[in-house]
Amino acid sequence: MLKNRLLKDTIPGFLIVLTAIFLLNSCNTAAKKKEASTITEIQNVPKPATKAKLPPYLAEGKKVYRQVCLTCHQANGGGVPGLNPPLIKTDYVLGDKNTLLEIIIKGSEAQLEGNKSEYANVMQGYGMLGDEEIANVASYIRNSFGNKAEPITASEVAAYRSANKK
Ligand code: HEC
Repeated sequence: MLKNRLLKDTIPGFLIVLTAIFLLNSCNTAAKKKEASTITEIQNVPKPATKAKLPPYLAEGKKVYRQVCLTCHQANGGGVPGLNPPLIKTDYVLGDKNTLLEIIIKGSEAQLEGNKSEYANVMQGYGMLGDEEIANVASYIRNSFGNKAEPITASEVAAYRSANKK
């Protein structure tokens, strides 16, 4: 008898506690769901463009650079001490267009005029590249690695070539 009384008294109390726990818990999940949806809302806000996309001709120039020039002059244009010069803010890169085109088309020895290079490597001429490719890669190095100089166009490359035919 006593045992039965005890059960009768405790069960309702127990149920109340259970319900309370259940309610609290569901409130909590609702709050979490709300929180989650706010997070997705925040994530859906478009990020401000931190890095402007390269215009197509510079993107093309980057491709040529990666395929042809990167092994020596490195991805950051820093070169390799004693082997290949950096392409960062140098007169050859930023200066006269035809001088730069001469280096790219005829190779690095073209500008040395008999002086001994301080770099162990020799850069061959890349005259086999098309006007567009040369213009793009020249423009790319003139506008990368912190450089800023007027791009070179394919018709400027064509003009250089026809003026410097042997
Ligand atoms: C085999 C390695 C090699 C490759 C590949 C190469 N270069 Fe060079 N480059 C050199 C070396 C070495 C010199 C330095 C020549 C010197 O001063 O004696 C040089 C010099 C230059 C210079 C003059 C740098 C300065 O301001 O002193 C430019 C510009 C240049 N390279 C651009 C390019 C471009 C663009 C490409 C790809 C189309 C390229 N190079 C590919 C090795 C390389």
